[in-house]
Amino acid sequence: MNFQLTEEQIAVRDAAREFANSELLPGVIDRDTEAKFPTEQIKKMGELGFMGMMVNPKYNGGGMDSISYVLAMEEISKIDASASVCMSVNNSLVCWGIETFGTEEQKEKYLKKLATGEKIGAFCLSEPEAGSDATSQRTTAEDKGDYYLLNGTKNWITNGSSASIYIVIAQTDAAKKHKGINALIVEREMEGFVVGKKEDKMGIRGSDTHSLMFTDVKVPKANRIGEDGFGFTFAMTTLNGGRIGIASQALGIATGAYELALKYSKERKAFNKHLSEHQAIQFKLADMATKIDAARLLIWQAASLKDQKKNFVKAAAMAKLFASTIAQEVTSEAVQIHGGYGYVKEYHVERLMRDAKITQIYEGTSEIQRMVISRELLR
Ligand code: CAA
Repeated sequence: MNFQLTEEQIAVRDAAREFANSELLPGVIDRDTEAKFPTEQIKKMGELGFMGMMVNPKYNGGGMDSISYVLAMEEISKIDASASVCMSVNNSLVCWGIETFGTEEQKEKYLKKLATGEKIGAFCLSEPEAGSDATSQRTTAEDKGDYYLLNGTKNWITNGSSASIYIVIAQTDAAKKHKGINALIVEREMEGFVVGKKEDKMGIRGSDTHSLMFTDVKVPKANRIGEDGFGFTFAMTTLNGGRIGIASQALGIATGAYELALKYSKERKAFNKHLSEHQAIQFKLADMATKIDAARLLIWQAASLKDQKKNFVKAAAMAKLFASTIAQEVTSEAVQIHGGYGYVKEYHVERLMRDAKITQIYEGTSEIQRMVISRELLR
């Protein structure tokens, strides 16, 4: 087993680190306070190739491997998890989904713009009454010959208002249950499509999370991804890969908090010595660093299996489950090490602690990850 990164992978990681520190760090506290989407920063991320990292260059992508992608995700997430969730959904769910299962026409029309960040994508599976229980789709896509008539509501949609290309999962034939579900590419401009309420969230506040309403939206048949009835398998398969991105986000949040705590412990004095000279703090730092390394290894394993085109379903769910769990623990300890300073915005760790929680919820809760892992074990 080779844990050595290639020169290219190191260059990608360093470029993401440099970008995060120079472009995302300034203003990150204000964007969190004001719940402001990082529009300009995401545009620059597109120009630098971070929005379509793994997409084939013939569709304007970076043609990179998944290891490069998780390295970049970790670096961006250390500083701004609101920017990184936009990046993750665009790369892992929307670009990957269209590139892997879409038609040539869909790739030309949509993927090329998504891969450069000229357009942002959203992945619309969750509904008011279908979150973890994703087969219970109430949104309908009625087959009308050469188009589908789309009706329903989607909830908790990341990039809800910043996106202009939406992959919407909807039920066409309820009698067929999950085999009657389709995945449709919906454009922002389509008549009958309205972006609804913006959620006022605990964390990742710079990310725009919205409900979406569809009323008699006519979606051309040419916008269906895969065969009729492929929508649920499409969503599940795409989410398997998406979980590697979110695991990397959790890892980045944890690493960001750990690095701040490490630095602070060497600067701050208490009882006539630096915090880092107290064994109670040293043990906390040792535990934090150990958890972070273990999460990174699980993520690299999942990304490496994906690149080798091997089954990575269990590895991805394990990586997400573990990384999101340790992100809670590490960010909480980082606040603890900072003491009262950790509880105020200026020191960043309170934001990272709030941001960490979502990684246990979206792209499948921790309970869903355990379901996925145990199914693979018992298969
Ligand atoms: N990979 C591939 N296929 C899968 C799969 C997986 N991980 N899990 C299930 N499937 C397939 C099954 O093989 C089955 O297909 P066949 O009938 O053809 O064999 C089909 O899906 C239905 O499977 P089940 O009967 O097992 O379905 P279920 O209802 O019992 O449970 C579930 C499936 C794993 C719980 C699934 O519903 C699930 O993953 N739910 C969580 C959904 C989720 O992650 N939502 C997140 C929203 S997206 C988001 O958060 C993005 C964002 O904005 C950040």
